[in-house]
Amino acid sequence: MNASGLPSLGIIGAGKVGSVLARLWHQAGCEVRGIYSRSEVRAMALAEQVGAMVCCDTPDHVLEVADLTVLAVPDDAIETVANRLNLKDLQGKGVVHTSGVHDAGSLAALAARGAMVGSLHPAFPFADIETAVTNLPGSTFAVEAEMAPLRTWLVELVHRLDGQVLVIPPGKKAVYHAALVIASNYAVTLYSLAEQILTGLGADVVTADRALNPLVRATAQNLRQQGIPAALTGPLVRGDAGTVRLHLAALRELDSDIAALYLQLARLTLPMLAARGVELEAIEQVLDLR
Ligand SMILES: NC(=O)c1ccc[n+]([C@@H]2O[C@H](COP(=O)([O-])OP(=O)(O)OC[C@H]3O[C@@H](n4cnc5c(N)ncnc54)[C@H](OP(=O)(O)O)[C@@H]3O)[C@@H](O)[C@H]2O)c1
Repeated sequence: MNASGLPSLGIIGAGKVGSVLARLWHQAGCEVRGIYSRSEVRAMALAEQVGAMVCCDTPDHVLEVADLTVLAVPDDAIETVANRLNLKDLQGKGVVHTSGVHDAGSLAALAARGAMVGSLHPAFPFADIETAVTNLPGSTFAVEAEMAPLRTWLVELVHRLDGQVLVIPPGKKAVYHAALVIASNYAVTLYSLAEQILTGLGADVVTADRALNPLVRATAQNLRQQGIPAALTGPLVRGDAGTVRLHLAALRELDSDIAALYLQLARLTLPMLAARGVELEAIEQVLDLR
């Protein structure tokens, strides 16, 4: 541990998340001491970027040199990689993974040898390394750490990235992660459905994106500035039941799955309408709820 009380860091898995965290922590003055990745070339490149003293030839070597090791490997590999670590005495060492869905239980084999285990999940979509290095600071991180020194380390490391800490209660990682997937991944799915409909009308993709991108950007901005339910616009919140009827009829001709999705989303919007004081009777009839 250095004079600021921050742990020295080790990274196992020099992929998107491992690389971005290592680079940003290094920029924020943290000591990244050891890097291991299956691809030696990738590990060496990252070690050079973050001034790591050691480019490790085994994952165990990372544990040896670092106070806190971040296991940034795919979700399905976490337990396997953890179970293969051989270092016997892990007293005083911290090990976390970066999965959104798994909890610290995936690292039980290391806890049994004295390690403080937990998870640190950046609630951020890592499409590519350079964009994430620019945009990750200021994001929220889900922190799961029962033991005091580990939790303190993680909170300080999040703060070094101007991040916000969200503490996840035990056993709730899956539902937490599902919420993020709904907001991020399925927003992309919804966008893609809208794009398909517009291109089906003869627009090329560039034209469709020009129509849709400002809508998405303004919606995100409204959510940021006004929150829920004020950010909701459109026919439901205007009480325009006739418009919703026309949408449903048009979509039922086009694609029954999209029509069913539209209906379900409209029904799930009703609590926001109630909060905005919208008269619900005509809308509930159109949505087959009366
Ligand atoms: N991508 C996101 O948006 C995001 C956001 C938040 C959290 N996460 C979480 O962060 C973790 C890593 O995700 P990522 O997007 O960084 O993945 P990634 O870019 O695919 O990187 C994964 C890294 O793990 C290594 N690896 C892959 N399979 C392995 C195995 N079987 N054994 C040992 N090492 C293995 C790879 O090593 P080599 O390249 O050297 O082969 C690579 O460096 C996951 O738990 C993910 O859920 C991802």
